[in-house]
Amino acid sequence: MGTMIDTLPDTIRPIRYGDGALYLLDQRLLPGETHENRYVDAAGVAAAIRDMVVRGAPAIGITAAFGVVLACGAAAGSGRADWRGQVEQAIAQLAASRPTAVNLFWALDRMREVLASCPSAGEAHARALAEAERMLAADIAANRRLGAAGAELIEPGRAVLTHCNTGSLATGGFGTALGVIRSAWAQGRIREVFADETRPWLQGARLTAWELLHDGIPVHLLCEGAAASLLRLGQVGWVIVGADRIAANGDTANKIGTYGLALLAREHGVRFMVAAPVSTIDFDTSEGSGIPIEMRPESEVLELAGRAIAPPGSRGWNPAFDVTPARLIDAIVTEHGVVQRPDRERLVALREGIASR
Ligand code: MRU
Repeated sequence: MGTMIDTLPDTIRPIRYGDGALYLLDQRLLPGETHENRYVDAAGVAAAIRDMVVRGAPAIGITAAFGVVLACGAAAGSGRADWRGQVEQAIAQLAASRPTAVNLFWALDRMREVLASCPSAGEAHARALAEAERMLAADIAANRRLGAAGAELIEPGRAVLTHCNTGSLATGGFGTALGVIRSAWAQGRIREVFADETRPWLQGARLTAWELLHDGIPVHLLCEGAAASLLRLGQVGWVIVGADRIAANGDTANKIGTYGLALLAREHGVRFMVAAPVSTIDFDTSEGSGIPIEMRPESEVLELAGRAIAPPGSRGWNPAFDVTPARLIDAIVTEHGVVQRPDRERLVALREGIASR
């Protein structure tokens, strides 16, 4: 069953840096158009994160790191003595772009650490660029490792169901939950892949289906309202999702609809896997109720592709994420190991294991 994890198909890259600029694949236009936008300042990068040009927890973090690179470049170019103040302002702007994915704050903290010992803006620029490039490469490597670890949990012959987009588009590359699915598919462990369309933003329909087909993996799309009927059929062995933030007790924030899927999975005896790099675990947030949940515009619910689908005067309610309690999760799969039946103690053990290596 072994597959060389470095040779699995994974051809999409949403984030690219070159010629002093950041290039982001505009995910709002997919699957109809593949177009890269060019960014030369941190304000533009913060707006790109807020407006969903780039989305997905790890991808947001890496993008913000490159936003800091651009801020350092601008500070070096300005020749001003208060370059640290300029960069701090940009970091604050990037941090305000989206509240839930902890990878954003993790990446910005990491960049702050790197800059702390830099004597000049020029050196800060060089060090920030090296760190952002390293972060991007490390994310892809971590995803390949956690993909292989998650695949090992999947007994051959069943289908899987996933939610939102957790693939190359949502990360530096390869993906988290989709990384597990890529690995398991390549090993012949998965009979069929089902993907929720993921209302209201349609990450499943527009992005996951596009990405899987792009890399040669067939997919069946369903409205998430059909998930209960699918799980009752008994063909699905695992529901596999990503995470935007995992609290210290294992409660997990992910795309709205994930909690409902976890309840359905438990009811139907289907196992539930969360796949995420350790940078998504927030040990400073004790439990799920402490995770800030982003509210997005009502128009995302009331409209579809810019056209109203509800009568004038209807109000929308649009939380972007929900929290799945740890007791509904069978495994959290990370690049540093699998935590079965996650709870506070088992996550601390994971952290201590990493620290002692
Ligand atoms: O609003 P989005 O598209 O940024 O939400 C993305 C998700 O909820 C993903 O499942 C999560 O970030 C994990 S991505 C590897």
